[in-house]
Amino acid sequence: MPSQHKFDVLIIGTGSAGLVTALHLSREMSIALISKDKILEGSSYYAQGGVSAVLAKNDNFDKHIKDTLIAGAGLGNIESIKFMVENAPEAINSLESHGVPFTKKENKYHLTTEGGHSERRVAHVADKTGEHIQLNLLESVRSRDNISIFENYIAVDLLLNDDSCSGAYILNKETKIVESFIAHKTVLATGGASKTYLYTSNPDTSTGDGIAMAYRAGCEVTNMEFTQFHPTCLFHPHAKSFLISEAVRGEGGILTLGDSKEFMQNYDERRELAPRDVVARAIDNEMKTKGLDCVYLDISFKGEKWIEEHFPTIKNKCSSFGIDISKEPIPVVPAAHYTCGGIQTDLNANSSINNLYAVGEVAHTGVHGANRMASNSLLECIVFAKSCAKHINKQQLSTKLPIFNSWDESRVSASKEKVVVLHLWDEIRRLMWNFVGIVRSNKRLQYAQQRLEVINLEVDSYYGTYLISNDLIELRNLVKTAQIIVDSSIDRKESRGLHFNEDYKELSSKIANTTIKIK
Ligand code: FAD
Ligand code: SIN
Repeated sequence: MPSQHKFDVLIIGTGSAGLVTALHLSREMSIALISKDKILEGSSYYAQGGVSAVLAKNDNFDKHIKDTLIAGAGLGNIESIKFMVENAPEAINSLESHGVPFTKKENKYHLTTEGGHSERRVAHVADKTGEHIQLNLLESVRSRDNISIFENYIAVDLLLNDDSCSGAYILNKETKIVESFIAHKTVLATGGASKTYLYTSNPDTSTGDGIAMAYRAGCEVTNMEFTQFHPTCLFHPHAKSFLISEAVRGEGGILTLGDSKEFMQNYDERRELAPRDVVARAIDNEMKTKGLDCVYLDISFKGEKWIEEHFPTIKNKCSSFGIDISKEPIPVVPAAHYTCGGIQTDLNANSSINNLYAVGEVAHTGVHGANRMASNSLLECIVFAKSCAKHINKQQLSTKLPIFNSWDESRVSASKEKVVVLHLWDEIRRLMWNFVGIVRSNKRLQYAQQRLEVINLEVDSYYGTYLISNDLIELRNLVKTAQIIVDSSIDRKESRGLHFNEDYKELSSKIANTTIKIK
């Protein structure tokens, strides 16, 4: 492999956002698609619930817009929300044109519902929506000869030329050589940052790499205090990151304390279908005040046949842990699930740096405000990836690409201290879980800020001394993203949506985003 590559467009990330961008770009353009793991590994593949869109007769755009705004606790950007909602039916059509077999009854979409939706509007493929989307999109991508796929390549940093982005340094994980990918346009589609927390529904890829890279390059990053905790992840010592879809509550699942005692009626009149921030905080409160390890989600009353038809994946996974969900409730706990903030972008996915775009969970388009409504995320990926590609297609690309020095590792050596990386990884994630979790306070946030500053110095010193590896690159990004989350949390002097601070329990009358940029 050459250590220098030239492409028209470099897309970092092969989740739904990255794949859809690639598919909408002109076939005349040369495109590099980069994935730091196996190509399908990423949150998109594991999505269960579905994609929201106005598809039912009694539904309309205004209702979808209103529900999204309400879930977002007043912080959603109306222009972006309108754009996403109005393009949603077309997004579903486009997925179908790539072969996604949405679940249908009598030739009509079977629409499910989740927290915050006032109508049934979540199109899905049983409880394996993401897997079907990703497999079909990937098949279409593989059929294009203008798209080159680089699997097991992890981006290290963006290449900057004056104030413009011209690609990235990317580590080939097999050869361990850092290669330069020089491109006219770079699209970050690297997903979210939920791995900054000890407990998460996300796969290992969600380490905030795109956010940290963009921040280091001088980009604006917005509203990172809004980490969404999904209320119901499977609680079992051997179950790593397994989600119990909100669609289970959408279809009538009841939360209990294990003795059949229901509790959501004490928190919100929408009960189990209140927005996620409300349900996650209620569970957190029940667990903390009653000293419980978990709460329970009961869907057993629907019977085996119905459950098998609607939630086969969840049924089988629970069964592999000895839990028969058609006969008993499922033990569940909240876990970090989604990064509502991210790289600040406009409707065409432009970031604040020239020629750098961001799409999907890595971006802040403003649609989610202070709390994302369920199944609006895949939708955001698909809608904004298309507008990003359309914007790039309209640009006149210059004939020349800048020249960059090769990656220099003459001053670093192999590390015999890898335990440091493991230790700091664990420390950051535990610190974030304990001090920057579902309920926050000024004291805990200050402690986290001070400790992360020290960890950041330790990581910088390690990074300047030893050869890079996948784990070191991720650790460097994890600590930076954690710092951005904490700094944004400290900047927000109110409790709004997903950000709940015991020292400011009320909403501020001032509705504002928190934007962080390198000083
Ligand atoms: P991802 O799908 O996470 O992809 C990120 C990509 O970036 C990966 O290919 C990764 O390898 C690559 N990458 C990251 N860093 C680097 C780097 N440094 N170098 C190279 N490559 C890199 N949303 C819904 O709307 N509906 C649902 O039903 C739903 N269910 C969900 C269930 C689960 C279990 C989870 C975890 C999330 C769910 N979500 C759902 C959220 C939604 O799936 C994600 O927000 C969305 O898929 C994000 O897509 P993405 O393309 O932005 O990122
Ligand atoms: C779920 O199925 O509960 C996840 C849906 C989402 O995150 O939007």
